[in-house]
Amino acid sequence: MGRSLALGGPVVSRDSAARDMASASYQRCCENPAFFEAFYRNFFTVCPEAAPRFANTDFERQSKLLRHAFGLLLIFPKQPEGEPTLLTRVAGRHSRSDLNVPPSFYPPFVDSLIATVKQYDPAWTPEVEDAWRRTVAKGVAYMVSRYEAQPR
Ligand code: HEM
Repeated sequence: MGRSLALGGPVVSRDSAARDMASASYQRCCENPAFFEAFYRNFFTVCPEAAPRFANTDFERQSKLLRHAFGLLLIFPKQPEGEPTLLTRVAGRHSRSDLNVPPSFYPPFVDSLIATVKQYDPAWTPEVEDAWRRTVAKGVAYMVSRYEAQPR
């Protein structure tokens, strides 16, 4: 795809192209409900210390939450700057004072998401992976930045 100056400059149009590419990939992944279970398998393999956090989790319910969570990550960069954000409540829930998910858990979370997309998206390419990484980075950085935040 060419760079379009008409859409507000190359950076903006590249970012929105990445979001569209990642969202289309996510739709293909969601066609297979096993995607979410596979994500947890991958996540607990690369980050075994995360598994006990989900000891009491109902995975049927959590798969619905995860579907929602990945959707939030993909639309987060489209939102205007300023609090509250789409992820304010979710970030508060993961902060030190509640679920206490430390920043070190996020890189394996993203890598597991990417590995699962690679397994489940029949149209995966390195460009699709790059689009996912660029698109989710902002929401993940926000979650991490709120780790020490007071609950709302
Ligand atoms: C950007 C990344 C993430 C997003 C968008 C996200 C999103 C969510 C959402 C929407 C919920 C449901 C919230 C609620 O019940 O109020 C949730 C619950 C949870 N998340 Fe995350 N999450 C992320 C990363 C992580 C990571 C890295 C861990 C590491 C252990 C984690 C552990 C949990 C746990 C333990 C729960 C509660 C499960 C339960 O109710 O049993 N999350 N997450």
